[in-house]
Amino acid sequence: MSKKVSRRQFLTYTLGGTAGFLGMGMLFPMIRFAADPMLKKGGKGAFVKTNYKEDQITETPLSVDFRVDVKDGWYVPEGGEPRTAWVMKSEGKILALSPVCKHLGCTVGWESNPQFKGEFFCPCHFGRYFKNGTNVPGTPPTKPLDQYETKIEAGHLWIGPIKKA
Ligand code: FES
Repeated sequence: MSKKVSRRQFLTYTLGGTAGFLGMGMLFPMIRFAADPMLKKGGKGAFVKTNYKEDQITETPLSVDFRVDVKDGWYVPEGGEPRTAWVMKSEGKILALSPVCKHLGCTVGWESNPQFKGEFFCPCHFGRYFKNGTNVPGTPPTKPLDQYETKIEAGHLWIGPIKKA
C-alpha cells in the first residue's frame, strides 16, 4: 500500500520545518543573552584595600569609605560601588559594622543623636544600636548590624564581604 504525500502536506511539512529551524536559531541567542549574567562569576568574597592604616583605628568608630566590584545582572558600576563601614577596635580586634539599619535599611550614624551618647542611631524610626552593633531592645531594629570581614595587610586595613551570621 503506497502512502502518497499530498502537495498540501508537503508544503506544510517543509514550511513548518523551516520555520522551526529558523525559530530555534533566533531563540538560542535570546536565551543566552538573558541568562548570561547568571553564568558569569562575580567578584564576591574579595577584600578591598582602604585608605586607612591600622594605627588610625581606635576604639572610636571611624567612617571608612571603600569601593567594591559589583555585578548586578548587566549593571557594573565603573570603579566599583561605594560602601561605608564603621570601623573600630573592640576587645583588641577590629570590628567593621555595616551602616545599614536592620529595620528598613536607613543609614545609622555614630552618636548622631546627642540624646544617645555612645550608640549608633538611625534617624528614620529612632533605631538604636550599642557600640558593638547589637540592637537596643525596645527600638525598631530586631537584629544587630551586619559585620564586614577585615584583615590587615602591610599595615593597611582591608575590608571583605559581610560575615555570614
Ligand atoms: S530604618 Fe532604621 S529604625 Fe527604621
